[in-house]
Amino acid sequence: MEPLLIETERLILRPLSEADIPELVPLIGDRRVAATTLRIPHPFHEQDARDFLGSAAKENELRLGIRLRNDNTFIGGMGLHPYPEHKRAELGYWLGVPYWGRGYATEAGRAVVKYGFEKCGLNRIFAGHFKHNPASGRVLAKIGMKYEGCMRQNIVKWDEFVDIEVYSILKQEFDSALK
Ligand SMILES: CC(C)(COP(=O)(O)OP(=O)(O)OC[C@H]1O[C@@H](n2cnc3c(N)ncnc32)[C@H](O)[C@@H]1OP(=O)(O)O)[C@@H](O)C(=O)NCCC(=O)NCCS
Repeated sequence: MEPLLIETERLILRPLSEADIPELVPLIGDRRVAATTLRIPHPFHEQDARDFLGSAAKENELRLGIRLRNDNTFIGGMGLHPYPEHKRAELGYWLGVPYWGRGYATEAGRAVVKYGFEKCGLNRIFAGHFKHNPASGRVLAKIGMKYEGCMRQNIVKWDEFVDIEVYSILKQEFDSALK
């Protein structure tokens, strides 16, 4: 996927880099951020951030940092994990706790979905959230995704089985919503 910059009304998204690490680590290191995500370790150290950036490059994954346009504050991350042979990608995201509840994940999500369909040639973008994280389900519904179902006890998080709610949007649905 090509390097990029995505601007929305209030946000700027660009590929995460080493320069983001000092701002990223304290935000992503909050236990409340790790608690409802599959791949964010806790505690989260600078080395985890470096590993995260390295693995993104290896897997050709889009990993964006999210900043506020007005003062450049780093607030979170969003990414697309591609499955090129099937023209699909998984959307993942997190925001620092002080920035929850202001519509930022929805605003960023809409822009990344648009980027995925218009610039990456994707046909399907999907996401799964922990059943006990309804805010994430709201984000997915608000960005136009449809609920597909529940993968029961699909993962183990901190020694507990967790149900995963799956949502997706297809290119044809994205296109017809624009008409
Ligand atoms: C999930 C997360 C990204 C949401 O970000 P956000 O910027 O607060 O989301 P938004 O403000 O765009 O939308 C949140 C929606 O959830 C709703 N919501 C919040 N808490 C809720 C709850 N307990 N039950 C139901 N809805 C809830 C909000 O009211 C809002 O919906 P509305 O606009 O219809 O009122 C953020 O909480 C987060 O980073 N959590 C930790 C990491 C994580 O869980 N990532 C997602 C992995 S799938």
